[in-house]
Amino acid sequence: MANKSKILVTGGCGYIGSHTIVELLQSDYEVVSLDNGLNSSPDVLDGIEAITGVRVVNVDVDLSQTEAALEALRAHGPFTGIIHFAALKSVGDSVHQPLRYFQNNIGATLTTMALMEAMDIPYLIFSSSCTVYGRPEKLPVTEESPIRPAESPYGATKQTGEILYDQFFNTQPGRNGISLRYFNPAGAHPSALIGEASTNQATNLVPVITETAIGLRSELAVFGNDYPTRDGSCIRDYIHVTDLAKAHVLAMDHLVQHKNQKPYEVFNLGIGEGVTVLEAIAAFEKSTGENVNFTISARRPGDIDAIYANNKKITEQLGWKPTEDIQSIMRSAWAWEQVRRK
Ligand SMILES: NC(=O)c1ccc[n+]([C@@H]2O[C@H](COP(=O)([O-])OP(=O)(O)OC[C@H]3O[C@@H](n4cnc5c(N)ncnc54)[C@H](O)[C@@H]3O)[C@@H](O)[C@H]2O)c1
Repeated sequence: MANKSKILVTGGCGYIGSHTIVELLQSDYEVVSLDNGLNSSPDVLDGIEAITGVRVVNVDVDLSQTEAALEALRAHGPFTGIIHFAALKSVGDSVHQPLRYFQNNIGATLTTMALMEAMDIPYLIFSSSCTVYGRPEKLPVTEESPIRPAESPYGATKQTGEILYDQFFNTQPGRNGISLRYFNPAGAHPSALIGEASTNQATNLVPVITETAIGLRSELAVFGNDYPTRDGSCIRDYIHVTDLAKAHVLAMDHLVQHKNQKPYEVFNLGIGEGVTVLEAIAAFEKSTGENVNFTISARRPGDIDAIYANNKKITEQLGWKPTEDIQSIMRSAWAWEQVRRK
């Protein structure tokens, strides 16, 4: 039997990394995870094993330390590709600790390039974000929508990552990369064996909803109901984490099969539909039968009124098709919250 392609998943113990590992294993890839536990616990490897029957090896090293990472990974290759998730991800924290975010996120990104050179790894997928579009003038945003000045140090690390990879892949014959610009990943694996389990406090809407419903928070603050949207609350494009994870497998297949039209490509990764905060709360209540105690509070600085994706490029070129909706996101997130707090 031919050897399976081995993929290095950085941030493999994190939320999106763990779901992507499951999809890779179920698509016949082999996986090595690299994660130093900055925002996760290696316990997630038990959940992955329970779902797939495979015990994934995690290399516990700080990816922003290039020499240490190279040393730690040497024995685990050869790798066909890297899927690079490892980063700090709180917009709010990044405003208070910009240097920490630059050193960790940009440092880790530079190390991925050093690994590609040192270990002769041809392909990479980067976790980018719709934050690169800032406050868009036109909706939905396409990949050609202008990149706006970053609204936070975190956003700057995603923009910098894209700029560096663009230069890197366009000057490195034989190496190809894809950046996936995620919209709002949410929900959990249908088994409820893995889900979002940040060790840092959750700031995204869906975990805040489930934490409020289960009683960990007394109430949920809806930041602003006076935006120019259909009910006054902000609009986002919520994408189920398993749909998101599957896109990484398609993107890696695309690279491995030499289908990239250019050495470096960018794809939006969203459902293509906007949901308001109040609609998201209502979807949670309807799909779970639970109530969420919320209040309307002032707008939060830096929030934009609305963003959602035009996903034509990824559906046409990668054959990706989302299968889960907001109700399924809410049901799975709630099932995971209940299992997690037992
Ligand atoms: N979740 C979202 O809403 C969202 C949206 C857009 C983009 N992204 C990006 O997707 C990626 C994954 O996000 P997530 O939600 O899974 O986050 P997460 O925090 O759950 O996962 C990131 C993982 O990387 C690890 N890590 C961080 N720095 C590291 C380092 N220097 N060395 C080794 N490991 C390190 C953490 O321990 C964590 O397990 C991140 O790059 C994030 O910026 C996330």
